[in-house]
Amino acid sequence: MKEKLLAIKDAAEQMLAANAPLEEVRVRFLGKKGELTAVLRGMGSLSAEERPIIGALANEIRQFIEQKIEAKAAELKAKENEKKLQSEKLDVTAPGKEIAFGSRHPLAAVEKEMCDIFRSMGFEVVEGPEVEYDYYNFQALNIPENHPARDTQDTFYITDNILLRSQTSPVQVRTMEKKRPPIRVVSPGRVYRSDAVDATHSPVFHQMEGLVVDKGITMGDLKGMLELFAKKMFGSETKLRFRPHHFPFTEPSAEVDVSCFVCGGKGCRLCKGEGWIEILGAGMVHPNVLRGCGIDPEEYSGFAFGMGIERIVMRKWNIDDMRYLYENDVRFLKQFK
Ligand code: PHE
Repeated sequence: MKEKLLAIKDAAEQMLAANAPLEEVRVRFLGKKGELTAVLRGMGSLSAEERPIIGALANEIRQFIEQKIEAKAAELKAKENEKKLQSEKLDVTAPGKEIAFGSRHPLAAVEKEMCDIFRSMGFEVVEGPEVEYDYYNFQALNIPENHPARDTQDTFYITDNILLRSQTSPVQVRTMEKKRPPIRVVSPGRVYRSDAVDATHSPVFHQMEGLVVDKGITMGDLKGMLELFAKKMFGSETKLRFRPHHFPFTEPSAEVDVSCFVCGGKGCRLCKGEGWIEILGAGMVHPNVLRGCGIDPEEYSGFAFGMGIERIVMRKWNIDDMRYLYENDVRFLKQFK
């Protein structure tokens, strides 16, 4: 029996050394029907002296095999862990993957800069609808149905009296209908005109409207305020030039130029040799417009202005084709980070 036990021990060791599956080893020797168990069962036939000796040996071998199996299991587990660690190795010193950060679109960046300047001067930023009634876009702005000014702002009609706004000036009317003076608002947004696309025209572009209404507002206030804005926007040396003009909803009206911020007025490629760059239309709010909004022109007066944002963006960065601003070409846009 002793030989049998020692043979079992050898067999178990050999199996383990040959990397046999551990469960197989366990079942074969230690299982209910296992070889070692069978030997223990046959102990009844032994003599009283032999029994404790063989019993002790059998236990020793059982423990031996159990320990071997455990050790082998631990060894396999460690190997597996090592393998996993190797395959999941992370080099924390390796350079990271570059993340492509976006940036503000130049139009949005300039619009924000303009809003920030006007806010610092006490203006509130408001918005109006892009799909607008004929009434707000034209009639309430002193442009009746057959007024020639409609030709210069031909837009897209949805019905006879609903259109895509051709200017931000309807926000003047919407504001005055809701608020009583003192009023101090700017309103940026998209406007539409039935223009063909070329380097300086687009059927969709952006404007910023301004409106101030209070007692005793004069053209001097308009000039002072615009001058302050221009200095903050284009630099402290900037000068303004007012040229008489006509808008149906302001009287008197002016077109306003800023001195060229590249050459300072001497004339260069940017300002096409003129020294001046036109940026906006402005004037004193027409009494008819005030009256139409229920504001008494005898008691209150106001000024309004509207500037083209594309124009400012293009001048600011010397962009010679407006189409770049709408094509979303990353190679173009990433220059404005
Ligand atoms: N709405 C005018 C335009 O689009 C600009 C303007 C605004 C003029 C306000 C005077 C006052 O041309």
